[in-house]
Amino acid sequence: MYVFVNAATSADGKLSDRTRTQVRLSSDEDFERVDRLRAESDAILVGVGTVLADDPSLTVKDETRALRQGNPIRVVADSRARTPLDAAVLNDSAPTVVGVGRDAPDESVDALREHAGVKVVETDAERVDLSELLDALEDRGVERLMVEGGGELIFSLLRENLVDELTFYVAPVFVGGRDSPTLVDGEGFVDGYAEATLEGVERVGEGVVLRYVLCSEDGT
Ligand SMILES: NC(=O)c1ccc[n+]([C@@H]2O[C@H](COP(=O)([O-])OP(=O)(O)OC[C@H]3O[C@@H](n4cnc5c(N)ncnc54)[C@H](OP(=O)(O)O)[C@@H]3O)[C@@H](O)[C@H]2O)c1
Repeated sequence: MYVFVNAATSADGKLSDRTRTQVRLSSDEDFERVDRLRAESDAILVGVGTVLADDPSLTVKDETRALRQGNPIRVVADSRARTPLDAAVLNDSAPTVVGVGRDAPDESVDALREHAGVKVVETDAERVDLSELLDALEDRGVERLMVEGGGELIFSLLRENLVDELTFYVAPVFVGGRDSPTLVDGEGFVDGYAEATLEGVERVGEGVVLRYVLCSEDGT
């Protein structure tokens, strides 16, 4: 499975400001690019932090959807089954897979399982085991997975060497704030940083899109 991350950051690497709510960093041109990327993907993965903060529906625009059959599958990494039943990511626009951990409360898992269009994947770890989740997606025919954040999830995927490519639009604004989420959060690396090769630099409107390909564990 090909796994690529796409996000939008400020020039100082923030995904949002210290309110941790959805902020508009992408330009109209960048939204078009993101919509195309979604349309080319079999599934779109986010962390539950993004669901709770932004309530995204993760769908493709009508015009773009005409190029493919329906919307991509939506996927949420949600260890404790906290995705609200009225979240936009559970609407009837597409099927949704919710990956949960082994300690997720049974009643929350059952409520998600009973929700139309939702499939729950139970993984055997306290936090969602991302390899297990990705294997389950592969079993469902997902060959191209787009990850749309946030920073906690992106860090875990990088740490587990599960990312092939990381692309982000850098907006010409500085947000600042030590508590503002960044592109790669989590506990961070101390030794063994995630190394990548810069494969693309493209000016899009007033911003720039950077495309990195991650080096594999053996350094290639
Ligand atoms: N600018 C952009 O492109 C963009 C894109 C997305 C989000 N955002 C912003 O980013 C912020 C949200 O980011 P975030 O980092 O707080 O949330 P996130 O990465 O979306 O979600 C993190 C949560 O996912 C769950 N999770 C389950 N399994 C995990 C695993 N193996 N590794 C890591 N997390 C796992 C954890 O909660 P549990 O332990 O409960 O499972 C964790 O707290 C918001 O401010 C949002 O607006 C911006």
